[in-house]
Amino acid sequence: MELGDDHLEAVIELVRQHTGIAMNENKRVLLQGRLLPRMRALGLASYADYIAHLRRGGDEVGSFINSVTTNDSAFFRTPAVWWYLNDEFLADWHGRMGATPLRIWSAAAATGEEAYSMSMLCLEFQRRHPSFRFAIDATDISSQALDAARGATYRGRTVERFELTRPALFRRYLAGGPERFTVVPEVRQHVSFDSHNLLAAPSRREHYDLVLLRNVLIYFDEENQQRILGQVRGAMRPDARLILGEQESITRLNTPFEFEQAHVYRIAGGQA
Ligand SMILES: C[S@@+](CC[C@H](N)C(=O)[O-])C[C@H]1O[C@@H](n2cnc3c(N)ncnc32)[C@H](O)[C@@H]1O
Repeated sequence: MELGDDHLEAVIELVRQHTGIAMNENKRVLLQGRLLPRMRALGLASYADYIAHLRRGGDEVGSFINSVTTNDSAFFRTPAVWWYLNDEFLADWHGRMGATPLRIWSAAAATGEEAYSMSMLCLEFQRRHPSFRFAIDATDISSQALDAARGATYRGRTVERFELTRPALFRRYLAGGPERFTVVPEVRQHVSFDSHNLLAAPSRREHYDLVLLRNVLIYFDEENQQRILGQVRGAMRPDARLILGEQESITRLNTPFEFEQAHVYRIAGGQA
C-alpha cells in the first residue's frame, strides 16, 4: 500500500517528534515496509487510521519507535576504534587513575554488541592489570533493541564475523552454538541497559570517562546533532573522551568538542 505525500509528511513529522530522527521522502518505501506490519497488527486499514491512532498516544508510540529506528550493530565494529581504546585510552586512563572505576556510556547501544565488546576489551585489560575496574551503562530509545541486548543471544552474520575476526575472544566470551551464542555472565555483569532518548538531558551529569556515540548522529539533522552533543557533553567528565562512528565528523558543527584523532573527540578546553 502506497504511503501518499500527505501521510508521508505526517509520518515524518511523528518520527521527528518521538525520536528526533530526520527523514525525507526518500524514506517512503522504508516507512511503508515498517508501518504496514504495525497496521496489520492493530487491524487498521489505512495510513490515515494509523496516524490518528498514533496521535492519540498510548502504547503504540513505543512500537512506532521500534519500527522506525534502525538497530544494526556488530561486535568490535570499526577495528581502528578498538585498537585506540585498547592501546591508548585504557593504558593512559589506568596509568593516571589506578583502581578508580572507569565509567563508560554506550549511548545508542542498539542490540548490545558495542557494550559487550567494550566489556570484553576491559576484561582482557583487567587480566593484564588486575586492579582495573569498570562499569558500562548502555542506553537506547528502542525497547525492542534493549530487550534483545538484555537477552545477549546472537546468531547469523554478527557471530560469524566476530568468530572470524576475533577467534580467541569469541571462544572465551560467547557460549552455546552451533547456531545461537550467548554472551557469558562475566561480560554481562558489567553492563546495565536502560531506555534513554539522546535529545533529553542525561540522567547522570559529569559522570562518564568515555562515551561511545557511534553510528547514530547520521540519523539527525545538524540542529539535533548539536542538541545531542550538548546533552552528551553534560554527562562527561572534563577529561573524558567521545567516540563517534566512521561516517560521522562533527568538526563543521558548533559543538563543545574538539578533534583529537580519527573517531576520537575531547571536550574543548578540557584536559589533554
Ligand atoms: C545503527 S544503531 C548504532 C548501534 C551502535 N552504536 C553501533 O555503532 O553499532 C543506531 C541506534 O540509535 C538508536 N536511536 C535512534 N534515535 C535515538 C534517540 N533519539 N535516542 C536514543 N537512541 C536513538 C536506534 O534505536 C538504534 O538502536
